[in-house]
Amino acid sequence: MKVLDVSAIKDGSVIDHIDSKSTLKVADILNIQNEEQVVLVGMNLTSKFLGKKGIIKIGGKIIDQKEVNKIALIAPNATVNIIKDYEVVKKFKVAVPELIEGIVKCFNPNCVSNHHKIEAKLHVVNKNPIKLQCHYCERIMNSKDIVLI
Ligand code: CTP
Repeated sequence: MKVLDVSAIKDGSVIDHIDSKSTLKVADILNIQNEEQVVLVGMNLTSKFLGKKGIIKIGGKIIDQKEVNKIALIAPNATVNIIKDYEVVKKFKVAVPELIEGIVKCFNPNCVSNHHKIEAKLHVVNKNPIKLQCHYCERIMNSKDIVLI
């Protein structure tokens, strides 16, 4: 018998296959504490290809592209499912864009993007493991250096 670890939702978004340790960071990106409809968060669930995974289900919300881009940086294996009337109507894997604008802060405290009203801009030089290069000061950042705006 197939039993769901976290129950099904009627309408909304399901972010599945999150690397378990990143689940609460994804929850932060999605600002779940301000949701008014049902929110379900599962961690350390069994996954065939990740070993352990996290899952977040948000009733009544369709996640937007900016949120998907942020999630891709934190949980590159995540899958997004859009649910309508209990059916999965759209499913896609998150993808890291080539250019990251206004999402991640440059980690160099002296960078011009941290001192003037210039939007942070980083080029993705490697996707897995993630490596970002600041457009302005050219410093290279790894996953541990990422601070989301
Ligand atoms: N889901 C849900 N509510 C629904 C339908 C689906 O919460 N009404 C969730 C499922 O629990 C699952 C995800 O949405 O976590 C994707 O559903 P589905 O495509 O049916 O599951 P799988 O085939 O297992 O997905 P995948 O192949 O992406 O692992």
